[in-house]
Amino acid sequence: MQNYQSIKESLINLEKEIQEKISSIIDVEHLKELYQDILGKKGRITEILKQLKDLSPEEKKEIGIIANQLKDQLTVLFKEKQVELEKKEIQESLQKEFFDILRPIKNRVGRIHPLSQIQYEVEDIFINMGFQIMEGPEVELDEYNFGKLNFTDDHPARDMQDTFWTEEGFLLRTHTSSVQVRAMEVLKPPFKIIVPGRVFRYEETDASHENTFYQLEGMMVDKNVSTANLIYIMKTFLSTFFEKDVTVRLRPGYFPFVEPGFELDIQCLICSGKGCQVCKYSGWVELLPCGLIHPNVLKAGGIDPQIWTGFAFGMGLSRLVMMRHSIEDIRHFLSGNIRFLEQF
Ligand code: DAH
Repeated sequence: MQNYQSIKESLINLEKEIQEKISSIIDVEHLKELYQDILGKKGRITEILKQLKDLSPEEKKEIGIIANQLKDQLTVLFKEKQVELEKKEIQESLQKEFFDILRPIKNRVGRIHPLSQIQYEVEDIFINMGFQIMEGPEVELDEYNFGKLNFTDDHPARDMQDTFWTEEGFLLRTHTSSVQVRAMEVLKPPFKIIVPGRVFRYEETDASHENTFYQLEGMMVDKNVSTANLIYIMKTFLSTFFEKDVTVRLRPGYFPFVEPGFELDIQCLICSGKGCQVCKYSGWVELLPCGLIHPNVLKAGGIDPQIWTGFAFGMGLSRLVMMRHSIEDIRHFLSGNIRFLEQF
């Protein structure tokens, strides 16, 4: 009898104990351990039932019913707890590991390439002075790049501009001057144009040479255009661009398509002409070649040089950007290096 009572009590106590234990468990792993402890083959219920052997058949039957009910109840409790814990674990891992495939990797804002930024700025300054913008083809005919610009077939100046040729006999324009005669053919003088664009040279690359770079050609055709007009326009442009009064000087320079031809220097903006590293202690920085348009070029463009005159200049746009931002290597521009580009 004693035995029967104590077995019955331990079964009832077990139920309370398990209910408390289950409610404090926080993961599936521990829940499984507890299940084995209680309902497993060597679990506590099995242990308790082993003591039944000394009981009478009625007692055994009664305890058996209680034990089976307990097993069923506990099994339901474990199952419910397991579902609850698994739900919680899935939710936690979703929160931790959720990966939104549509989310941008990093909120990078695009920006305008430094060359384009300065190109637009220079364009605005010239537009304010009444210039219009023109474009021309990058794959060009020899005659526009050289012939009509007064480079005869055997002219040594052709060698100054190492050229990429296509198998069909076209070339990649070596300078934006190739658009000079194209413009003359379509515009009626007087006109003032600038031509920004990409040019190509078959060159060894280094910090100041690249096979692909940017120029900005300028040209004014009108009656009585003189070097004075050229100097005025250049000075106005440069003072606006550099936001200070710029002093310029002209030295003679040779290009077949201008006569006279010049190299335009500006007084060093860093030392105001006193001499520093940037101007190599000369006080002057070489900026762009220019000149008065050669009569042969005007003729090639169908313009009468007896009536019309003009000036032209060829600015290295890449070089201008390098000066503005103190960029030491021209190869950065087309390197596609985002860390370089993000600075501007
Ligand atoms: N096109 C020449 C070059 O790339 C530069 C040049 C010189 C352009 C004199 C001009 C000019 O318009 O007048 O070497």
